[in-house]
Amino acid sequence: MATWAGTEVSALNPLRALWLTLAATFLLTLLLQLVPAGLLPGCAFFQDLIRYGKTKEGAPPRPAACRAFDVPKRYFSHFYIISVLWNGFLLWSLTHSLVTGAPFPNWLHGLLRILGTAQFRGGELALSALLVLAFLWLHSLRRLFECLFVSVFSNAVIHIVQYWFGLVYYILVGLTVLSQVPMDGRNVYVIGKNLLMQARWFHILGMMMFIWSSAHQYKCHVILSNLRKNKAGVVIHCNHRIPFGDWFEYVSSPNYLAELMIYISMAVTFGFYNLTWWLVVTYVFFSQALSAFLSHKFYKSKFISYPKHRKAFLPFLF
Ligand SMILES: NC(=O)c1ccc[n+]([C@@H]2O[C@H](COP(=O)([O-])OP(=O)(O)OC[C@H]3O[C@@H](n4cnc5c(N)ncnc54)[C@H](OP(=O)(O)O)[C@@H]3O)[C@@H](O)[C@H]2O)c1
Repeated sequence: MATWAGTEVSALNPLRALWLTLAATFLLTLLLQLVPAGLLPGCAFFQDLIRYGKTKEGAPPRPAACRAFDVPKRYFSHFYIISVLWNGFLLWSLTHSLVTGAPFPNWLHGLLRILGTAQFRGGELALSALLVLAFLWLHSLRRLFECLFVSVFSNAVIHIVQYWFGLVYYILVGLTVLSQVPMDGRNVYVIGKNLLMQARWFHILGMMMFIWSSAHQYKCHVILSNLRKNKAGVVIHCNHRIPFGDWFEYVSSPNYLAELMIYISMAVTFGFYNLTWWLVVTYVFFSQALSAFLSHKFYKSKFISYPKHRKAFLPFLF
């Protein structure tokens, strides 16, 4: 495993700059939400950009102009279709390079170089990136399955900007993982030329964390969908109710917490030291914290009987 000292912590390549900017933007937006409402001018357009789904209900009245940019929230499935296809292609390309020793296609190699691909410096493992890319692909596949066969969507909406952001997001995440593959010129660098020799304890730990967090996220999405069904499993309404069970006993949005845990499990799989990936985790932390905060506010304003001990995002803390 490379150490922090061994990595170029100060190198702010385009990918790192992008994730840092996104993380800072969501941190700032979250901080703005913590300021008492009276102190901030209510801007319908801004609120419309940061809220989606049920949390739009808690925002100031939406002008008709805002509604023109609405996209059904059930289109979340499009994000995962793109991700399964794109990240499936990247996974195939990496596997192909590792098995045959062939370089990445020219255009992909060029793109990775622009974004800031890692030239081998000593210690980076191609197996880590391969596992993380496989996790990302499996995560997208499960989410696509949930969107199509588990979740019951209402007529909730997202902003068209959020829609496009979601599409580009999964392309960028996959490229970020691939850019962490150690390269030797145009070829993937494999220490000792045997991938299995690269297996380390943190790969096992990361995999266990990934399975554990994914299982909880799935469970939470099932709990949410069951709120809209009768005992026979038939959808009977599309309202928002108070969820109970599993991690819902601790936080209002355990599915967002599980998402964060999934990205942390990937950081573990990278061997804990990958700065670029920690910037992705930081972005996921603030974006999910913002959504969880707004959901928590929505539940507390809608239900007088909402459990008092329940936090928004982090058990016992926030
Ligand atoms: N990595 C990222 O940057 C990122 C960004 C966004 C989301 N995500 C992940 O994507 C997943 C889905 O996100 P989301 O924002 O759609 O989650 P969500 O708001 O909790 O919604 C999940 C599903 O449950 C329904 N639902 C929500 N609250 C409900 C309630 N109180 N009663 C009954 N049904 C309810 C929703 O329906 P309606 O909303 O249609 O009413 C939707 O079908 C999450 O796990 C999240 O972590 C990741």
